[in-house]
Amino acid sequence: MKDNTKIVVAGRPHQRPAHPVNQPVERASTILFPTYDDYLAGAKSITYGRLGTSSHRALEETVNALEGGYETRLAPSGLQACTAAILAFVAAGDHVLMTDAAYDPTRKFCEKFLKRFGVETTFYDPLATAQDIAELMQSNTKVVFVESPGSLTFEVQDIPAIVEAAHAGGAVVVADNTWAGGYFCKPIALGADVSLQAATKYIVGHADCLVGTITAANEKIAQKIYYALLQLGSNVSADDAYLALRGMRTLSVRMKRHEENAHALVKWLSKRSEVERILHPANKTCPGHAIWKRDFTGSSGLFGVVLKPVSLADLKRFFNSFKLFGIGFSWGGFESLCVHMHPEHNRTATSWDDPGPVLRFHAGLEDIDDMTNDLDRAFTAMAQS
Ligand SMILES: Cc1ncc(COP(=O)(O)O)c(C=O)c1O
Repeated sequence: MKDNTKIVVAGRPHQRPAHPVNQPVERASTILFPTYDDYLAGAKSITYGRLGTSSHRALEETVNALEGGYETRLAPSGLQACTAAILAFVAAGDHVLMTDAAYDPTRKFCEKFLKRFGVETTFYDPLATAQDIAELMQSNTKVVFVESPGSLTFEVQDIPAIVEAAHAGGAVVVADNTWAGGYFCKPIALGADVSLQAATKYIVGHADCLVGTITAANEKIAQKIYYALLQLGSNVSADDAYLALRGMRTLSVRMKRHEENAHALVKWLSKRSEVERILHPANKTCPGHAIWKRDFTGSSGLFGVVLKPVSLADLKRFFNSFKLFGIGFSWGGFESLCVHMHPEHNRTATSWDDPGPVLRFHAGLEDIDDMTNDLDRAFTAMAQS
């Protein structure tokens, strides 16, 4: 089956001759077993609320079908998908290689939390080649983490090359696949051991709940992820699993529309004299564009714009005149957003040298004319000093 079909048919309830189209919410802590033998059934059956009910299994099955994995498990947030997927493979004395373009809380988890438990991190250039990674590998490197493209600065990473070097040195590759929504990129097919998502973004798609997904490439990896989540005591509410699966049923149409609107915005913004450069993987000037062309089948709605230097007062007028764009973190919902980001504060292996502000846009599903009118108004306000 193709992806557009998988996300419609996977995870449907099929235990009764007549059943609802989508999996309803099944809330539970205690599960009652009809017989002692049922009680002895293995970890994959439904045994206790924290380990998931049919609502969770339905979402896991659907995400797994889309990611092309062996097994998917849920986490209570995208950030916990990142942290649990690292914790599953490290112990005191180990070493992690983390992309320098990582989502900042993932970076902080390495710098602060892992460090306290004796796990060291080296940050690496997101544009690293196989040889660069091979040179950074240590005998105790257990995880090489990629986020492609970086969700703030949009460098596209060479996952197959990174996998080659990581596997040669005995490390697993964990990929944050949130930008592609599991739809435009398949890290597991590219060789990654884990593909995770902040399902909070495109899978949920409606900016109203947080969920993480962790997809393992094979049984051995799946077991490690399962035990990490189990021992951390992770739990996703059945209502949130339901919302995520409900959102996911329309992922294909939403992703196409986000892509289309982002392209139209990029085209419009490229012509503005206030803009220094665009950070969008489908743009020829984006670092890693050739890799995006090779490894992705499309692009989502999240991209960056570097403006020519402006004063803070000018920038404030720009933001304060929005009537449509929201000023808000997160992305992947149906709405357009714009935030001022500071990549210069989140780098150690590389530097961010653009003097102008970096704006991160999320192209929502609105009409493109209304979006560009809103931006036009904002640029006009910015110029009125
Ligand atoms: C790339 C990426 N990964 C992970 C996360 C964390 O997701 P959540 O907010 O669901 O914890 C985010 C959130 O913005 C993100 O952008």
